[in-house]
Amino acid sequence: MEDVLRILMSGEYVSGAQISSDLGVTRAAVWKRIEQLRALGLKVESAGRRGYRLTDCADCIMAPIIERNLHTAWAGRPVIYRQTIGSTNQYARQLASQGAAHGTLVVADEQTAGRGRRGRAWISPAGEGVFFSLILRPSLHPSLVPHLSLITALTAYDALVAIGIESAGIKWPNDVVANGKKVSGLLLEMDANEQEIEHIVVGIGFNVHQQTFPEEIEKTATSLDLVRGKRVNRAELVCAFLQAFEARYDDLNQNGMDKQMETYVTRSVTIGRKVQVVGTGEQFIGTATGIDESGALKVTDEDGNERTVLAGDVSVRGLMGYV
Ligand code: BTN
Repeated sequence: MEDVLRILMSGEYVSGAQISSDLGVTRAAVWKRIEQLRALGLKVESAGRRGYRLTDCADCIMAPIIERNLHTAWAGRPVIYRQTIGSTNQYARQLASQGAAHGTLVVADEQTAGRGRRGRAWISPAGEGVFFSLILRPSLHPSLVPHLSLITALTAYDALVAIGIESAGIKWPNDVVANGKKVSGLLLEMDANEQEIEHIVVGIGFNVHQQTFPEEIEKTATSLDLVRGKRVNRAELVCAFLQAFEARYDDLNQNGMDKQMETYVTRSVTIGRKVQVVGTGEQFIGTATGIDESGALKVTDEDGNERTVLAGDVSVRGLMGYV
């Protein structure tokens, strides 16, 4: 399907015969792929012998559409699209272990086994959200790797600003929230051997078009359409994310985390709040006071002890609600 789309991206009429000869497939196969594109919401006009013309890409996130609006050097190069997939993170890890390049993006319309943090599932209904994973082969100094999760959250926030949402915040460590509910979740997974990190997969899910949510998350989740009050274009969102991520990643590499940490603190909705920290063993209540240089959350508990909370270990909830 993407091969036909790539040919139609010129916006000009292309005859069925031309497409079939360019791709070395039958006219019937071309017609079938055009129908599949239409089923995804793309508008393809047909006019007798003149052939087919793409008039509207709608909300499509296939590779040719993302690539057309992408102005990055490495992030999203290449883009690999799947209409449906188990988990983009899982597939990206598989591709990375087979040698896929730094910057490769796997993006899907639907995940049937989307993974969340701390072993939870990430509900990923077809066409409602956007689910993607970026493969990194870190040229980063190992001491900067823990900061990747924070710069990914900063980037998700940047992407929201780029599409006109200014009211977001970051719930430590890396949930992006708006109107007190989560719009985006991030899952970083790393494969390493004894000597070095082989690759890191940065996985991001945005709730985009949902108007309602399953009962188990309806109190804590919202979508970008609901926050913006206007339909969001998913390809624009992905491009905005990749653009900002590349800039933040390169900056982290060159200048370290200090500046970006300052930005993180200004965008944090956790710092200054009373929170409940729930770990595998104990749980306690305290006030979040800041982030240390490694990205851990500093919390002063009710006895006045300053404690440091690591992202992998706990869930942090506000006392008055999700944030
Ligand atoms: C969280 O629990 O907040 C993290 C959710 C991460 C979901 C994204 S969707 C794309 C990528 N593929 C996955 O299986 N998970 C991540």
